[in-house]
Amino acid sequence: MNAQWFQLGYLLSAALFIFGLKALGHPRTAPRGNQLGALGMLVAVITVLLEAGLVSDPWLIFGGIALGTAIGLWMAIRVEMTGMPELVALFNGFGGAASALVAVAEVYAAVETQAFPSGLERFVAWIAVGLSSLVGWMTLTGSLLAYAKLKGGFQIFGAWRRTPTWGPPWLNGVKAVLLVASVVLIGASVEYPDNLQLAWALMVTSSLLGVLMVLPIGGADMPVVVSLLNSLSGIAAAFTGFIISNSVLIVAGSLVGASGLILTFLMCRAMNRRLIDVLFTSFGGSTEQALTRTKAGSDADEVAMVLDGAQKVIIVPGYGMAVSQAQHAVRELADLLHERYGTEVKYAIHPVAGRMPGHMNVLLAEANVPYEQLVEMDEINPEMADADAAIVIGANDTCNPAGRGTEGPLAGMPIIQADMARTVIVIKRSLSVGYAGVDNDLFYLDKTMMLFGDGKKALTALTQAIKES
Ligand code: TAP
Repeated sequence: MNAQWFQLGYLLSAALFIFGLKALGHPRTAPRGNQLGALGMLVAVITVLLEAGLVSDPWLIFGGIALGTAIGLWMAIRVEMTGMPELVALFNGFGGAASALVAVAEVYAAVETQAFPSGLERFVAWIAVGLSSLVGWMTLTGSLLAYAKLKGGFQIFGAWRRTPTWGPPWLNGVKAVLLVASVVLIGASVEYPDNLQLAWALMVTSSLLGVLMVLPIGGADMPVVVSLLNSLSGIAAAFTGFIISNSVLIVAGSLVGASGLILTFLMCRAMNRRLIDVLFTSFGGSTEQALTRTKAGSDADEVAMVLDGAQKVIIVPGYGMAVSQAQHAVRELADLLHERYGTEVKYAIHPVAGRMPGHMNVLLAEANVPYEQLVEMDEINPEMADADAAIVIGANDTCNPAGRGTEGPLAGMPIIQADMARTVIVIKRSLSVGYAGVDNDLFYLDKTMMLFGDGKKALTALTQAIKES
């Protein structure tokens, strides 16, 4: 087949990736974005197979595709919405490992055939092999540790061990030494391209770097690190694209690398954190504040009375809504308020509510909440003072007034200003802290009513109480 057709195939898949990414920018078009991305990947895989002439052993390739598809499908079907960050962390790790393995295979192939390029060509090829290995192994071990941290621990010899978070300042020095050693190994491999030990030594230094990068990070900073690892897996894939001279891998890897980095910075901005602090200085949310205050809870009937005749209600969803899968119950309550009292209901969406970007949008879209009712933090905050009630459902850090302070893990974090509403109704199981481990003054305000319980059950009870009132 003509080589131009293959280039056309790659161009088509790259275009599909770009249009897919664009469509992911809005909840309404996001499902189409996903489909376009998947189609782009299908076109890329078919083109690669045709270009390679199905290689010498098609069964190995189709066996690999079938096995990968089965594992991916099984994991995607099984995963709970709240487990998505762990799954993404694991997939990032696999992506990094795939890139690193291709790099090592390239070294082995060259040694076996003794076909080493020379001059600038060798320099470029072996630097790409080295960087792909460095970033790939680092992404693998960093992502596996991130996965274990997000799960909270792992099983060893039948006993459950909590994943440690540890990072004295001198550890940064060890990381610097490992980075320098890795760069030296890459340089040496250009000089001695047939030395396989250099490739394995690079695997050791890069893998250690990945572990030490993630080890000191904890709590609220973990999703940021997962996003950064996602970006790294894309960068590793782009280097691999150079190694095997595959343009679509370079394009796809660069897109993942760039979009992952943009997302990382957006998350940092939403949490008022600097990436450098996330990576090198603190232990985001590893310690929990001890709670000393108490607050009496209200029952569903009392809350129903307060909502009687409300003109405007703003719902503030958070991680607890995801845990209790309360999105349908939220929609039911909103519909009832609108039918009964003509209440205007809006949803205040914090950029880092939940545990992944767009978490609340995805859940509320699943419950068919109209998109126009989902309002971003900066737009909803000025409306808060006009609301008769703010109903906070399983949100904590994202509406914690500690964000206005200058000390503690939440200092300076932009928040949903639920405390500005006339009445605040908080639905959660206890007074306990959120992800950042900080006590929340919002719960203790005189105008705040605590409706203790699982999000979905409490909302169902509230809806019932309104119906019976
Ligand atoms: P959080 O501050 O994590 O608080 C969630 C609350 O949900 C908890 O206090 C918990 O209180 C409650 N909860 C748990 N299970 C519940 C259930 N079954 N029913 C009702 N409530 C339940 O939530 P948030 O306000 O969404 O904040 C998100 C946090 O994650 C922030 O610190 C943010 O910085 C961090 N983070 C998020 C992202 C992204 S991309 N989303 C990225 C980086 C960091 P009880 O135990 O008392 O019920």
